[in-house]
Amino acid sequence: MKDVNQNPLNKKIINSFLRIKDFSKVKILIFEEIDSTNRYLSDLISDKNTLYVCTAEKQNKGKGRGNKKWESPTGQNIYLSLSFQLEKNSQLNGFSLMVGLAIRDTLSELYDIDSKIKWPNDIFFDHKKFCGVLIETKYENNLLKIVIGIGINVFMHSNDQIDQDWTSLKLIDGEKSFDRNLIIGKLTSKIIDYSRTYEKYGFSHFQKPFNQNNYLKNKILTSENFKGKDCKVKEVDEEGRLKVEIDKEEKLISSGELSFKIKE
Ligand code: BTN
Repeated sequence: MKDVNQNPLNKKIINSFLRIKDFSKVKILIFEEIDSTNRYLSDLISDKNTLYVCTAEKQNKGKGRGNKKWESPTGQNIYLSLSFQLEKNSQLNGFSLMVGLAIRDTLSELYDIDSKIKWPNDIFFDHKKFCGVLIETKYENNLLKIVIGIGINVFMHSNDQIDQDWTSLKLIDGEKSFDRNLIIGKLTSKIIDYSRTYEKYGFSHFQKPFNQNNYLKNKILTSENFKGKDCKVKEVDEEGRLKVEIDKEEKLISSGELSFKIKE
């Protein structure tokens, strides 16, 4: 199959794949180069009924979770941030897991890629990470603004700056023709669609599909949080907390509380 690697990010094409009903406006912003799409949308004074979709060919200061850098070379990957206003009391732990599921489902529908979600929201294929999510929030005019940052490795085939096992869509399936504009459009629509369901029913609606694709299920973890003791992962509960067993006792962990290593 022919590669669409050379297809630049394009507003009109992204827009043609968007299926968004409940915003009065969608603003798509595309940059050749930017420090960070998340930083841009965080600082932007936004309009209440607008969905902002910000993407770039390259980020100079791509932000990862835990103050890490997110490798963002030109034209190879997807660097996408979405921002909109949320209800003030939205429960964000489960929300971030729901975003992971939306990414997994979009890639499964478009390219038949069967990826797994490593709680809370990294996306893995064959034990290697190819996508990460950084969610930031901010109060603006007394409303909660959420910025959902998504990095998906698409065409990247080498990068010695990344300190963990990683992969990209093209490395997962070299035969397929990946289209960043298509992925951005479909993924944005899916996230908005799932967000509406989340606002109505909370995470419990997504619990089952999340657990079916839960990379950590039945894995043994070690963590400083448990004084180095082994813990076995069961599944996530209806609020998106990770249920683990330590010394035959069950514990629930909220995302952000735990830093861990997988033992087996
Ligand atoms: C992680 O550490 O796994 C999260 C990575 C998130 C990277 C994306 S790329 C688009 C957006 N802009 C940023 O600066 N970071 C996020």
